[in-house]
Amino acid sequence: MSDKKCNVGVLASGRGSNFQAICEACRREEYPARAACLVTDNPEAGALRIAADYGVPGFVVPVAVGKGRLPGEAEEEMARICVEHRVDLVALAGFMRILKGPLLDRFGGRIINIHPALLPSFPGLHSSRQAVDYGVKVSGCTVHFVDRTIDGGAIILQSAVPVLDDDDEGTLINRIHVEEHKSYVRAIELFAQGRLKIEGRRVKIL
Ligand code: GRF
Repeated sequence: MSDKKCNVGVLASGRGSNFQAICEACRREEYPARAACLVTDNPEAGALRIAADYGVPGFVVPVAVGKGRLPGEAEEEMARICVEHRVDLVALAGFMRILKGPLLDRFGGRIINIHPALLPSFPGLHSSRQAVDYGVKVSGCTVHFVDRTIDGGAIILQSAVPVLDDDDEGTLINRIHVEEHKSYVRAIELFAQGRLKIEGRRVKIL
């Protein structure tokens, strides 16, 4: 991948601040990745506007059922869009669906996710509320490979932030977001440079 840019397909369901950070990094000539497409299950996703702003092709694959598992047909369609856009790496950025089939089959070992906690603590939803309620002193974000578990794949990068006495869910997540944007951009850069080596549960940075 050293002689060409790594094509990143981003899947996002919400406002898209991580997607925006990726788009911003991709504008830099020396950054080794480019945003190839944005795919969302949510026609209202802020990420769609960001895609338009940055000239990234954006696609809505509407899903009739509520949150949770992605129906096979929708995942098939998302995989098809990624293949069509020659995606090398799929980056989940606030994608609120659980992958089970076609994307994992097609892009095994080439899907990453960002989670707003220091995994394996506080997987799943509302991680920063869980962290505040539990009373931890440190939280942060994790970029990890996606496998068939929920938030359980091999960890690429983590970045910590303090949890302050007067934090609530909102103030903590804002602090975590700042770290997320840096960590996700860095993890994609490392992947694009071919510097991530998975050895069992451990990801070595070469
Ligand atoms: C982030 O906190 C990310 O860790 C989680 O969903 C959130 C997405 O935020 N998976 P944004 O849409 O990128 O602003």
